[in-house]
Amino acid sequence: MPRIVDWPGRLKEMAAFVGLDEEQFELIRSTAPVVLEHADELTAAVYDNFLKHPGSRKFFLNEKGEVDETRLDRRKHSLARWLRASIDFKLDEDYPIRALATGIVHSHPPVHRAHLGSIPSRFMIGTMSFTQTALAEVLLQEMDDPEAAMRASVAWNKLLMVQMDIMLAGYVTDIPTEPPEGTEEPAEPADLQSAPDTLGTFE
Ligand code: HEM
Repeated sequence: MPRIVDWPGRLKEMAAFVGLDEEQFELIRSTAPVVLEHADELTAAVYDNFLKHPGSRKFFLNEKGEVDETRLDRRKHSLARWLRASIDFKLDEDYPIRALATGIVHSHPPVHRAHLGSIPSRFMIGTMSFTQTALAEVLLQEMDDPEAAMRASVAWNKLLMVQMDIMLAGYVTDIPTEPPEGTEEPAEPADLQSAPDTLGTFE
């Protein structure tokens, strides 16, 4: 019996857990001019890093083993869009579903890249780490007050981790500790090896 997941509720719980509050959303929004000015540079740095490492590079190659510039460009735009949307992140109904969909796009390869399998979750985590560092550097470099830059960077770090939790839910399912409502039997442990099977729990 599939469990219903309250994604907005989970997002709010995680935000409270890491201490991401309205004051910090305000701090994030206040970085908009700096982040937007550097959005292309930040996404280019993320993609340069993907191309440096064979494990991530392979997702951006064509059949001849060359970098597929058209696709790469499209992906850069997707990442820049995500970064811009993150500035206006809200604890509402919409964002967790978008984050989940983004996770699923990476964990469940569509037909055209089915042979490559999932984008390994470690690269998703690594990308968040890379982005956190790159953002911190930009904020420190561009903001007049280093303490304000540090506080803004802390807020961004929390936001990216809260998003990461939902994105990775597109990869793994925690083993439930309570039986689904209306049953007495303990819930079956999720099969952590097989991401597609775990999707039943999102229904
Ligand atoms: C913080 C981590 C990441 C974020 C926020 C992110 C964001 C996105 C977004 C917003 C899209 C567009 C999804 C759509 O069309 O609905 C996308 C697509 C894609 N991303 Fe990422 N990405 C991340 C990490 C990665 C990594 C690590 C790789 C590979 C090494 C990767 C490769 C791709 C590919 C291949 C697509 C196209 C999916 C398809 O085949 O349709 N991404 N990404």
